Amino acid sequence: MSDQREHWERVYTEKAPDAVSWFEAAPRASLAMIEELALPLDAPIADVGGGASHLASELVDRGYTDVTVADISGEALQRARDGFAAADRVAWVIADVRAHDFGRRFRLWHDRAVFQFMVAAEDRRAYVAALERNLDPGGHAILATFGPDGPTRCSGLPVARYGPRELAAELGAGLDLEHSREVVHTTPAGTAQQFIYARLRRSQPDRDEAESVEGRMRPEARITVARLLDEARAGLERLGPAAALEAQRQGAALIDIRCEPQRARDGLLPGATTTARNVLEWRLDPACPYRDPELARSDRKVILICDEGYQSSLAAATLRRFGIDATDVVGGAQAWLAAGLPVERAG
Ligand SMILES: C[S@@+](CC[C@H](N)C(=O)[O-])C[C@H]1O[C@@H](n2cnc3c(N)ncnc32)[C@H](O)[C@@H]1O
Repeated sequence: MSDQREHWERVYTEKAPDAVSWFEAAPRASLAMIEELALPLDAPIADVGGGASHLASELVDRGYTDVTVADISGEALQRARDGFAAADRVAWVIADVRAHDFGRRFRLWHDRAVFQFMVAAEDRRAYVAALERNLDPGGHAILATFGPDGPTRCSGLPVARYGPRELAAELGAGLDLEHSREVVHTTPAGTAQQFIYARLRRSQPDRDEAESVEGRMRPEARITVARLLDEARAGLERLGPAAALEAQRQGAALIDIRCEPQRARDGLLPGATTTARNVLEWRLDPACPYRDPELARSDRKVILICDEGYQSSLAAATLRRFGIDATDVVGGAQAWLAAGLPVERAG
C-alpha cells in the first residue's frame, strides 16, 4: 500500500484550511444528501478522510450524536477541531482508512474526495474491505469523487475519476447505487471542478450471516485466499528481513512459525521463539489461560516469520485482533536467508 501520511501532514501543516483546493465554507452537497436519508439522530456516522472539513460540526449542530471523523493526518483533525466548541462530542480517529478497523459498524459512511486517491488496485481493495467491515448491512455510503470531466490530479497527487456507475462497480456488488448527482465545486482560486456524489446502500448480507438454506455460503459472500491475504496485509506494516532483525534487536519478539522440517533444512533464527502454528493463537491471546506471558503482551512488538511470508500475514492479522502489535516478515525465512542474515544450525 502506498503511504501518503507524510504528504497529508505536510499539506495541513503548510497550508491554511481555507487555502486548499477542496475547501468549502459549508459542505452543502454532503449535508443535503445526508439529510435526505432522514437517519435517526443517534445513527452512527463516519466521515472518512474528513480532513479539516466542517461536516462534523454541521452534523453536531443538527443534533446528530454519534459522529466519527477519521483521517490519516493528525494535523488535519486538529484544524477541524480548531474553533469547534463542541469538538469533544465527536470521535476523532487518526487512521489510514484502508487498514483501520473501527471495531463497530456505521449506518452512514461519508467520503468526500478520499477514495479518488486510491489509484492502485491494491489500495482500492483495501478501502472496499474497510468499508465492508465497518458499514452496517442496510447502511448507506455517500462518496464524492472527481467526475469524468474533473481534474486528473489533486493536492499534487494523481486521482481516479468516476461516473456514478463506474464508482458503484469499483465498490463491488455489495453496494447498490441508489442516487447520484453532479456538483460543480469552485476552488478558492476560482477553478471549477466536476464532482460526482453517489449514494449507495449496502445490500449484501453480513458474511457471518451468509449461510444459504443448504447451510452453504452464498457465492457472492465467498472470499478467495488472495482477497483474504490482501485484507490481512492491509492492516500490517510489514517488515523486510533486515528491518525485522533490527526491530528484534530493539526488543521486538521474533516468532518463528515454520514447521520442524523447514527449520531443520534452513536453520534457526538466533533469538527467535519457535511457536508451532497450530498453537499460536492460544499462546498469544492475553486473555487465554494457555498464553505465553512473554509473548501475549500488547506492549511488545511481535514479528512473525514463516517460510515465505504468506501464512505469517494471515496469522499476524489474527493476532492484531487480540490487541497484539503484530506484523510479519516479507518473504519469510527464504528472504532472510537470501539477505545473508544470521542463522544457526538446527538441533
Ligand atoms: C482532498 S482531502 C478531502 C478532505 C475532506 N473530505 C473534505 O471534503 O474537505 C482528502 C483527505 O483524505 C485524507 N486521506 C487521504 N488518504 C487517506 C487514508 N488512506 N486514510 C484516511 N484519510 C486519508 C487526507 O488527509 C485529506 O484530509
